[in-house]
Amino acid sequence: MKAWLRTVWESVWRIGWPKDDRSAVKALLQSLVLHVHPPKVRPESLKFRATWGLGVLSFGLLALLTLTGIYLMFYYIPHPDAAWRSMKDLAFVVPFGVVTRNAHRWAAHAMVALVTLHMLRVFLAGGYKPPRQANWVAGVWLWFGTLALSFTGYLLPWDQLAFWAVTVGSNMAGAIPGIGEHFRVLILGDRTVGEAALLRFYVLHCVALPAVLFALVGFHLFRVRKDGGLVVSEHAESAVKAGDGPRLVPAWPHLLYRELVLSLVLTAVLLALALWVDAPLEPEADPARTPNPAKAPWYFLGVQELAHYSAFWGGVFVPAATVAALCLLPYVDTHTQGVGRYLPPERRLASASFGALLVFMAVFTVIGTLFRGPGWALMWWPK
Ligand code: HEM
Repeated sequence: MKAWLRTVWESVWRIGWPKDDRSAVKALLQSLVLHVHPPKVRPESLKFRATWGLGVLSFGLLALLTLTGIYLMFYYIPHPDAAWRSMKDLAFVVPFGVVTRNAHRWAAHAMVALVTLHMLRVFLAGGYKPPRQANWVAGVWLWFGTLALSFTGYLLPWDQLAFWAVTVGSNMAGAIPGIGEHFRVLILGDRTVGEAALLRFYVLHCVALPAVLFALVGFHLFRVRKDGGLVVSEHAESAVKAGDGPRLVPAWPHLLYRELVLSLVLTAVLLALALWVDAPLEPEADPARTPNPAKAPWYFLGVQELAHYSAFWGGVFVPAATVAALCLLPYVDTHTQGVGRYLPPERRLASASFGALLVFMAVFTVIGTLFRGPGWALMWWPK
């Protein structure tokens, strides 16, 4: 039996547990999954402050969302008559239903936040500059995809919060001049949020967007490797070229060990949160009872606040111009002085402009979230 089990194990894992650097490098090269990493990495890219673990944590959250999402799919029915009751079943009948739903909800919010912070980290280090331009643009689409994944999932509980947040979000899309109304009907399958929208959002959330996101993440990680690993300072780069820099170290165990520790910490934190804090569930969606104010999901509240001043300029132009500017950035800001360092004096203008954009969005998001009351009137005290 033992010999048979050994044969099965060795048919999957062709080389033994690595005992030295040489066999670790060989293992990495022969494994499909581990091959995502280069066999050897620069020691400075292993330091926590090089990445703050944000890319790995984003990937970890995508994996946890997939696992918890598959479990939820077994019990969820994407129909207005049954969707909200599925949530109640998860809370009271399904084994581990509450904790799985909570974990899925908190992971979704965390992913929006961490992917945005990862983008900020890459920006600050100048990681979008040559030769990493295409990977930055792929990243912008990943960011967009993460928001779309979260937004489509928002509707599924079919409670008042879900229904009206998606109604507000899709109304903003309706402000696109000329094609807005067609676009809204295209995503909702109708003029208002209803049965067709729920089924569309379900398919987008559970099939189409995860497939696109996983394909994009595959490309993204492949490019990180092919672009020569993480961006490093010019000083470290020239030392590597001259052959007098610090020696490269095998990705296994040095990088893989760190990734494993981060993934375990992430899982533990998420599990603790899911055990302690329940995801909200408001009364069942009622198209006849509009909450006042009706608010979009938190990450769109800055845009909703801007759209309040002008549906087109605030709700369409500013977001579209921001995404276009992010995609064009690596082809406009091309000099490589100061890359691989955070806030270097050589990149003062770029850091200040990006910082201003973030502060601008943060201020509008805070106003939209905390300081807007019934009729979208300003409240001087958050409720
Ligand atoms: C699902 C979302 C994402 C995942 C899973 C992901 C994953 C990763 C990982 C694991 C790395 C290497 C380690 C690290 O930097 O932490 C990385 C690097 C990188 N990411 Fe992402 N990423 C995502 C979204 C983004 C976004 C939104 C952008 C920018 C718009 C971006 C741009 C980059 C670039 C340019 C690099 C190379 C950075 C460097 O050389 O320092 N990524 N990503």
